[in-house]
Amino acid sequence: MSQARTIIAKLRQRQTPSRDELSWFATGLADGTVTDAQAGAFAMAVCLNGLGDVGRVALTIAMRDSGQVLDWDLPGPVLDKHSTGGVGDCVSLILAPALAACGAYVPMISGRGLGHTGGTLDKLDCIPGLSTQLSEARLRDVVARAGCAIVGATGDIAPADKRLYAVRDVTSTVDSLDLITASILSKKLAAGLAGLVLDVKVGSGAFMKDMAAARGLADALVKTANASGCKTTALITDMNQPLAPALGNALEVAEVMRVLTGQTKGPLVEISVALGGVLLANGGLAKDVQAGADAVAAAIADGRAAERFGTMVAAMGGPVQFVENWSRFLPEATVIREIAAPRTSYVTAIDGEALGLAVVDLGGGRKVEGDRLNLAVGLSDVARLGARVTKGQALAVVHAARAADADRAEAAVRAAITLGTAQAPVPDLIAERIG
Ligand code: URA
Repeated sequence: MSQARTIIAKLRQRQTPSRDELSWFATGLADGTVTDAQAGAFAMAVCLNGLGDVGRVALTIAMRDSGQVLDWDLPGPVLDKHSTGGVGDCVSLILAPALAACGAYVPMISGRGLGHTGGTLDKLDCIPGLSTQLSEARLRDVVARAGCAIVGATGDIAPADKRLYAVRDVTSTVDSLDLITASILSKKLAAGLAGLVLDVKVGSGAFMKDMAAARGLADALVKTANASGCKTTALITDMNQPLAPALGNALEVAEVMRVLTGQTKGPLVEISVALGGVLLANGGLAKDVQAGADAVAAAIADGRAAERFGTMVAAMGGPVQFVENWSRFLPEATVIREIAAPRTSYVTAIDGEALGLAVVDLGGGRKVEGDRLNLAVGLSDVARLGARVTKGQALAVVHAARAADADRAEAAVRAAITLGTAQAPVPDLIAERIG
């Protein structure tokens, strides 16, 4: 029997393939020895029968090692964070430069929008001239100069995942804890990290809608990353409303610039400080989580994070004076329309996924692979959960390319924001810490 058939047969019989077998399979995915049919059968068998803790670690390491694994010789620890995805989640753009300002090095390999959630690379595309597809030499140069670089994965980073993800997408096998864990971590660990913090989102705007699902994913990710040699902690954080009051690529970059230049605070800063505190403590740059959080808060408040952001943007080909003149560089939509509250009331629920899908429908996200984005569109000034709104006050502002698009977005926003007569409880921003 061929090696692939043996491995698939073991999985079908609920046995765990050995490390060598999973390594062979990952190499075969990367070099084409494993056929699409075998990859599909493998994914389905894992999806149905699971791999167990040992098998999940072995698959993660095998997929990490299917391509290039970066190593670094820098005067500080190499750290990173990963978010499982949400709406208005532009924390990476704040946290990476803030960590760099605290002495860490952050080669952040990021992705594009997925489903209703935004992607960091799409947001960076709003900055004229900036390229997120860097060669390894340029990535190393930007990280050495700015302390951080936010880039797309090259074809050489975890190629087994690239192949398996495409097969999972068309075989209804995306939804497996083992495969999601191996997929996320193989790419992150290939960046040669010493420490990682995971922001596992839970709630209406997240992929994980309830705590049990979020805990299961956080637990699998933390166990697997630590067993693979990367010190990792997860925070489960609330996504029952957008994290920033803005959703959409340029609108989120504008919000990030307001945070970095001290014009606003709020949940984006709170989450950045919490994630950064854990990471600096894990990376040995702070004596404990509180000291780490204080260091990140100070780097944001005193402008050092903004300075790092500016250095990173310029080193990646963007404008040299971006931080000083950001509003001049970002694209603006042609139709801007306030959605007024129909009566004085409280915001009692927000369907985050519906708001994310409204932005996709405006052209701010992809419906099918390869769609071109309109970077200017989206929503801003989204009312917070628990807020009291008076009649006529804005529930949100729609930024659209055409009036007909704004009409559809307005209807979607009105349906997504529930108003009530009494203030409903607002979940804590940080629900739990794992690891
Ligand atoms: N993100 C990934 O990179 N992989 C998954 O499987 C799911 C989310």
